[in-house]
Amino acid sequence: MTSPARLPTNAPFPPDAIAALNRVIEHTSPTQRSWLAGFLAGYEAASGTPATAPAVASVVRPALTILFATESGNSEALARKASKDASRLGFAPRVLDAADATPADLARTERLLVIAATWGEGEAPARATDFMAALMADAATRMDKVNYAVLALGDRAYAQFCATGHAIDERLAALGGHRAAPLLECDLDYDAPAATWLGTTLPALRGKEAEPAPSVIHVDFGAVGGEAREWSKSNPFEAEITDLVNLNSSRSAKQTVHVELSLAGSGLTYLPGDAIGVAPENDSAVVEAVLDAAGLAGDTALHAALVSKHDVTTLSGHVVRSFAELTGDPSIKDLAGDPERLADFLPGRHVVDLLTAFPNKLTPAQLTGLLRPLPPRLYSVASSQAMVGEEAHLLVSAVRYQAHGRDRVGVASTHIADRRRVGDRLGIHVKANPHFRLPSDPATPIVMIGPGTGVAPFRAFMQERDAAGLAGKSWLFFGDQRYTHDFLYQLEWQDLIERGVLGRIDVAFSRDQDAKIYVQNRMWEARRDLHRWIEDGATLYVCGDQTRMARDVHTALRDIIADGAGIAADAAEERLAAMKKQGRYLLDVY
Ligand SMILES: Cc1cc2nc3c(=O)[nH]c(=O)nc-3n(C[C@H](O)[C@H](O)[C@H](O)COP(=O)(O)OP(=O)(O)OC[C@H]3O[C@@H](n4cnc5c(N)ncnc54)[C@H](O)[C@@H]3O)c2cc1C
Ligand SMILES: Cc1cc2nc3c(=O)[nH]c(=O)nc-3n(C[C@H](O)[C@H](O)[C@H](O)COP(=O)(O)O)c2cc1C
Repeated sequence: MTSPARLPTNAPFPPDAIAALNRVIEHTSPTQRSWLAGFLAGYEAASGTPATAPAVASVVRPALTILFATESGNSEALARKASKDASRLGFAPRVLDAADATPADLARTERLLVIAATWGEGEAPARATDFMAALMADAATRMDKVNYAVLALGDRAYAQFCATGHAIDERLAALGGHRAAPLLECDLDYDAPAATWLGTTLPALRGKEAEPAPSVIHVDFGAVGGEAREWSKSNPFEAEITDLVNLNSSRSAKQTVHVELSLAGSGLTYLPGDAIGVAPENDSAVVEAVLDAAGLAGDTALHAALVSKHDVTTLSGHVVRSFAELTGDPSIKDLAGDPERLADFLPGRHVVDLLTAFPNKLTPAQLTGLLRPLPPRLYSVASSQAMVGEEAHLLVSAVRYQAHGRDRVGVASTHIADRRRVGDRLGIHVKANPHFRLPSDPATPIVMIGPGTGVAPFRAFMQERDAAGLAGKSWLFFGDQRYTHDFLYQLEWQDLIERGVLGRIDVAFSRDQDAKIYVQNRMWEARRDLHRWIEDGATLYVCGDQTRMARDVHTALRDIIADGAGIAADAAEERLAAMKKQGRYLLDVY
């Protein structure tokens, strides 16, 4: 599946016109787009405006397949960038989503670039699981004529760093493929290393026979996909906070803040389903503790840099190994060299715990060299521009917990919930999520399962349908701890129900009774209706916690289908897998 057609944000239209056009264009079929292109070209010809025909290069260009496996779009965006670079180098590139690919497709290609992300705890992106299973199967096609290279995206905070990329790289070699360049592991700050790696790997894949193409016209679609050309991860827009309110009651165990951001003057646009990336700042007290533990207390310039630029919390095996190398301390080397001890030591610990457990005085450069750049955090957009115009709303749950005798807080969520006020600014960029969209046909029934902050994109979906005056069948499952204290956006849902925009809401409050009740229990109770909706072609959306909720909801859906259709659990699994492939069972989990 390729990403949907969208106008770049630098298209010569005002932002609201771009958003409006995207809402239509995104759901067009190839036939409709061809018709539209032909119609507009014909209109220009009839009105006497000369059309410009692009020059077409007439050299034979070696084919290059660029396969991506993505969940949240980074690998796909990189694949498209690699495709542009490859065109410039004289390739005829073809970008392929692992969701639509088979190993046999790859075995036929002589040049293959793979860009793959890792999700869950070392798993492949959900849409790529069929591909991965086929690649790993005993009967997988041989890859004897394939020259390949793998770029692995990941996050060093996870134990199984870049596991999917490694699995593909090793499997291609085992199937007889020829590694044209060593695999590149990328952390969240992948832009620069990926660009450097592509700069050497693409020529290595090209070999000798092909020359760079001569005059090729390049249309720069770099801004397509909701990410405004000038505002990006590395250049965030400083959006003013115009509202910031805790939606939980003062007696709740939780703090979930609704945040309104002004996009005025930015030209940023987004669609329901997209996320906003927030550039956070570290808590000053945490930075002080790190400086203290490194023997650098009182260095104010370093303090300022650590607050806004460096990840002073995430502790990974990589940080421990670098620290061991840097200090030469044998006890740290012992820890770094013992995978079992390391796997025991890391969970729940932060950089400060390492520096405190193994006191070593560092220089400022040594300390910053240990720390990766502070990565942005993503938040599902909770509004529709059709309803709120130049605003974006977020729903952020403050992360607080205790581990190893210390109180800990999440960096970005408490930066927003505790350390920002109305009138302050937040550095943001838009992260498009083309695989989590409302159905193109507004009459398609939708079932939205979103406990906790998982409900955020569904507020955006409902605003979008409300603004368009569409009342397609819709059903929301929401859950949290207590009805009285944690019913996020309660009045809005009631209003939407009264006006017929939202058809049905089922709620599960886990702590209002002795036995815990979750959304999956409510789904099971409503299984007959839910199965009928599925049979009637409903699209299912799941958003929120990936570790427990998404798994339990999946099991409930499997059981509901098995029960409703009178089939075995395995057959119900297959139906869910087919729905995923058809884009009727969509997940946005984290
Ligand atoms: C596509 C996407 C959409 C998202 N949408 C939303 C949203 O709408 N709203 C929202 O609130 N969040 C959302 N998130 C999650 C969000 O991006 C952040 O991960 C979250 O806010 C925590 O970030 P933080 O900087 O506050 O915490 P961090 O500083 O990143 O700390 C979080 C880490 O702390 C550790 N931790 C947390 N709790 C515990 C515990 N009890 N015990 C031990 N360790 C623990 C875990 O290692 C965890 O990964 C989304 C994520 C993605 C990928
Ligand atoms: C919920 C979640 C789980 C993740 N699990 C892993 C993991 O196990 N290993 C890893 O290296 N990266 C992990 N990552 C990081 C992603 O691989 C990284 O964000 C990557 O850039 C995503 O690429 P994509 O947008 O193409 O899916 C995880 C990210 C999230 C949000």
